[in-house]
Amino acid sequence: MAVASSKKFTYALDDEMGAAYQEFLEAYPAFKETHRLDDLRASEYRRLDDQGHLYLDYTGGSLYGDGQVRQHMEILRQGVFGNPHSSNPTSKAMTQLDEHARHYVLQYFNASPDEYIAVFTQNASGALKLVGESYPFAPGGRYMLTFDNHNSVNGIREFARHKGAEIVYVPVFRPDLRVDEENLNQLLDEAQPGQHNLFAYPAQSNFSGVQHPLEWIERAHAKGWDVMVDFAAFVPTNRLDLSKVKPDFLSLSFYKMFGYPTGIGCLIARKTALPKLRRPWFAGGTITIASVQGDGYYLAEGEAGFEDGTINYLTIPAVEIGLKHIESIGIEVIHDRVACLTSWLLDALLNLRHSNGAPLIRLYGPADMHMRGGTISVNFLDAQGNLINFRQIETQANAANISLRTGCFCNPGAGEVANNLTRDDMSSCFREINPMSFDEFLTFMDGKATGAVRVSLGLVSNFNDVYRFMGFVETFLE
Ligand SMILES: Cc1ncc(COP(=O)(O)O)c(C=O)c1O
Repeated sequence: MAVASSKKFTYALDDEMGAAYQEFLEAYPAFKETHRLDDLRASEYRRLDDQGHLYLDYTGGSLYGDGQVRQHMEILRQGVFGNPHSSNPTSKAMTQLDEHARHYVLQYFNASPDEYIAVFTQNASGALKLVGESYPFAPGGRYMLTFDNHNSVNGIREFARHKGAEIVYVPVFRPDLRVDEENLNQLLDEAQPGQHNLFAYPAQSNFSGVQHPLEWIERAHAKGWDVMVDFAAFVPTNRLDLSKVKPDFLSLSFYKMFGYPTGIGCLIARKTALPKLRRPWFAGGTITIASVQGDGYYLAEGEAGFEDGTINYLTIPAVEIGLKHIESIGIEVIHDRVACLTSWLLDALLNLRHSNGAPLIRLYGPADMHMRGGTISVNFLDAQGNLINFRQIETQANAANISLRTGCFCNPGAGEVANNLTRDDMSSCFREINPMSFDEFLTFMDGKATGAVRVSLGLVSNFNDVYRFMGFVETFLE
């Protein structure tokens, strides 16, 4: 879209930003308490501003500080480490560091080692898959999950289907994309007594930022469900205290919390729920003994039974470094900062109007900060109310060195409800003989909204980021 040079912008001028920042501080006094993050950004994350990046994809992945990498490299440079599956000195040295990190994970989430175990996985999806493939789904049992879920939670339905369990989706509703509590209660009442019933939902939506209540966990337990909560999008900016909430299984990816390392996630599982899980195979590291001629095996107890092959042993110490990094800042500080910035950004976006008074932005999800995090999904509309293709927004954002995300963010259920796509719309595209690419899907939907633009704030977001983003957004005003 061409931008008229004579256009008056509200957010574009540097000298106006100073005044806007003062107003922001007056409106959000709690932000001042988070100033140590400004210092940190200027030191540990300097490369972000040096290179002129506007990073708005924290729900995709957080950013790492220089110190995290330095500390990890120092460990590697000074030690001699072998595969932890042995008992030689280099192996023992590695085992000690990795087990320390494992304990630290439980400690960080205030999970008693008497009650929970931490299984290292490749990512949150790996944690979800471990539960999906091992849960004793069977005819008569149920897998219930919210529409609002990452595909790695949706994908578990294929294990459930294969084993004959019933699959039940709990809908979410526009405009907030939340679950109706009465509807949920009715569905929770339908757990099959004496059968295996698993309920799965995200603590925070990676599409809309909605935080679904953690009180559901005990409600579901009381009605006969095992509960799996996907905390991947929640833990980067919120405290999770496992002495207060007690899901049976939970998943997360560490790079979403502190950027580095990638390739490591975690399944935290309640010891009382573990005996239910039946691994469909065994692998190196997961057994105490296995025999070729005896055609048998004994699975190792605890986390070892779930960690296939050699764990990412050299990298795991970086998880502890990352957790300590977050603790040194304070998760509440991160939370409060993201809440202030998200609130300001929501208001600013919703107040933008074309010259004819029509809104520029259509928001998907809650318009205020009640039970929501720092993820905002929107579409852009022209002055006549027509959608501006999210691909166009992305192209222009890329050109402005802005990292945001477009599409449905691997959360098709929330996207379908947000964009008013019906069961018929969606089933028709699975009647095609050949698999469709996402681009072919967009063409197939023939102009219907099929995705959105997502911006998400996190660890080192600052006022400059949201202000500069608004400067970009208002270039689409007519
Ligand atoms: C809510 C949620 N769950 C699960 C995942 C999957 O995480 P990973 O790709 O690290 O397995 C994501 C990733 O974006 C997510 O946002």
